[in-house]
Amino acid sequence: MNPASNANPAVLIRANPSLALVKYWGKCRFGRNRPASTSLALSLAGLTTRTELRLLPPGAAADQMTLGGQIQPDERFAAFFDQARRLYRHQRRYQAISSNDFPSAAGLASSSSGFAALALGCAALAGQAAGADFPATGDCLAADGLSARQLTQASALARLGSASAARAVYGGWTWLPAGAAAAIPLQAAGFWPDFRVLVVVASRSAKADSSRGAMNRTRASSPYYPAWLRDAVAVSREARLALYRRDLERLGQLARLSYSRMHASALAADPPLLYWLPASLVAIQCCAELRTAGIGAWETMDAGPQVKILCEQKDIAAIRAALSVALPAAGLIEASPATGPTLAAWPSEWVEGFGQP
Ligand code: DP6
Repeated sequence: MNPASNANPAVLIRANPSLALVKYWGKCRFGRNRPASTSLALSLAGLTTRTELRLLPPGAAADQMTLGGQIQPDERFAAFFDQARRLYRHQRRYQAISSNDFPSAAGLASSSSGFAALALGCAALAGQAAGADFPATGDCLAADGLSARQLTQASALARLGSASAARAVYGGWTWLPAGAAAAIPLQAAGFWPDFRVLVVVASRSAKADSSRGAMNRTRASSPYYPAWLRDAVAVSREARLALYRRDLERLGQLARLSYSRMHASALAADPPLLYWLPASLVAIQCCAELRTAGIGAWETMDAGPQVKILCEQKDIAAIRAALSVALPAAGLIEASPATGPTLAAWPSEWVEGFGQP
């Protein structure tokens, strides 16, 4: 990158969280945050991270990261920004101002959209500074602004921040193989346009245990961790086939197996990791009753108490009606397959007012 070519390049990125139907839980022993289990995921339109990213003037001492108005700890971002400088060959520091329109660090995969937005921002800034043909105004699909190679690089960079973020660089359905550096886009959002995810917000509080610490504790102390990893291989393969057939029932069964086994391995850690709240169990029970009544409602859970219900658009009203009786106080967020992150270059005159909406 030639920083002199554009004194204060800045970009605005919007990205969506990546919900795993088949879970990543555990890291390879070596390989800088590579996942130990294969995950199959969908990027969710309806939940959005918005990130402004700029290069600070030469000589700035440190990177600056703000999320929801709060300055973030350096150590969570240092490896990521250092790698971005190595990858895009410059010494400048970054400033990022990020916000989510959904609860952060509450098991809604905010780190996936957060690091995906940062990585795409770094890639876009590198392209902009190098004089690439980059749109001056308006949003555009990342896929239109960056080449497949640049997206793979951004996915690998995002992985350093959060392995699930490697998937959130893409819209639609994604695949992150065990041991891989970057995610692979499997199908675009339009492949299954009626697919829906209804998020039951059982709690808006930030979780006590980060996914990172929790999965490391599971690996280090759960006697069920090796069994989790072993079984995950077949589950991921079959889930991918079920996705290609758009077979909600089979995909739902496999998603349920994946999260149940992931949580079983975590619950057996020392000390145990228990993410479920009473409201989570009510939502799980509600899904079971809906299925008995012939409605395709398949739940999954991540490292938090929220329950995400996999379903089709035609059943959304019935599922909402059942939840309004079972859990009248719970918030609901409806999500659909996301097209993919968007990026917009900022006109240079806006740069001085960086931080404006
Ligand atoms: C349960 O990607 O947040 O949501 O790589 O340590 O940052 P780090 O973990 P993270 O873990 C996500 C775990 C999960 C399952 C998934 O998204 O695949």
